[in-house]
Amino acid sequence: MFEKNNLFVAPLAGITDRPFRSMVRQFSPDVSLVTEMISCHSLVEQHKNCPRNFDRYDDEGNIGTQIFGADVNLMADAARILQDNGAKWIDINMGCPVPKVATRAGAGAFLMRNHKLAGDIMRAVVRAVDIPVSVKTRLGWDSANVDWRELVDIAADSGVAFVALHGRTRAAGYTGAAVHPDVKDCPIPVIANGDIKTQDDVIQMEKLGYAGVMVGRAMLGAPWKLEEITGGTKSIDLGKIVLQHLNLVIDYYGARTGVPLFRKHAAWYSAGLPGASAFRVAVNQITDEKELKDKISEFWGCVAEI
Ligand SMILES: Cc1cc2nc3c(=O)[nH]c(=O)nc-3n(C[C@H](O)[C@H](O)[C@H](O)COP(=O)(O)O)c2cc1C
Repeated sequence: MFEKNNLFVAPLAGITDRPFRSMVRQFSPDVSLVTEMISCHSLVEQHKNCPRNFDRYDDEGNIGTQIFGADVNLMADAARILQDNGAKWIDINMGCPVPKVATRAGAGAFLMRNHKLAGDIMRAVVRAVDIPVSVKTRLGWDSANVDWRELVDIAADSGVAFVALHGRTRAAGYTGAAVHPDVKDCPIPVIANGDIKTQDDVIQMEKLGYAGVMVGRAMLGAPWKLEEITGGTKSIDLGKIVLQHLNLVIDYYGARTGVPLFRKHAAWYSAGLPGASAFRVAVNQITDEKELKDKISEFWGCVAEI
């Protein structure tokens, strides 16, 4: 089995915020976590509507901060800011398929179409910081351009420490089964990402030469999942966990933003349980913090003591 720091929670926009990361740490204190992607523009210009622009990471264990953008200098500046804020490593997003990022901004997955710019960004970011730099990418732009291996070589030549490889193309988005190529002859460590859900998946990735695994959607409503699929188990009092997560969300965002933002987490936590759909419908109407806590307590038969 991989070392704990080679087990990663994937960056998930709108999900792997500070409250969620704190929940994961309860179960898996030593694994590696990656922040949601942060725009280099937003960070350098310190847009105030994004609380994550002001996060400090000193107390967060092994935490990578992910940046996206297509401007070489701004990416380097953003990396420096995050290093100063306590990030343990910088991750460059070269896989996001969302049009706003990949086509309009020329960033994320679009960098797979422009290896020259991708290499320039990697080198500039590596030069800008003293901490390790990683790249998260996909197999390629589409099935006619599966050139991940070239990008891994560019990353290695640029001084990037490791690559996380999502086993789908940009065109595939999040659909179809992830495909994990053999990476034994890669010059730098490669972390497997995409559809990793079970202990067998993890074992399979070891056989293919990966240096670790990165788990994304399997963590939704299950911050203990990485621990579970890598051999550790803990008994879980789900109602308490949900309330605790809600409290962290409210502390971080305030109740006005936090209550509606928590609806999706409540839905994921309750998925598959009896009465979940009625619970979800009720939660989606709630705007008041106490009412939401009471609803959660009622659903899971526990008491909101915090
Ligand atoms: C809601 C959502 C948000 C995501 N946000 C990011 C992100 O901010 N940065 C990134 O590199 N990938 C992002 N991804 C992609 C995941 O990190 C991961 O590569 C993908 O979900 C495949 O892994 P999985 O099958 O374990 O979920 C996101 C995926 C989802 C579903």
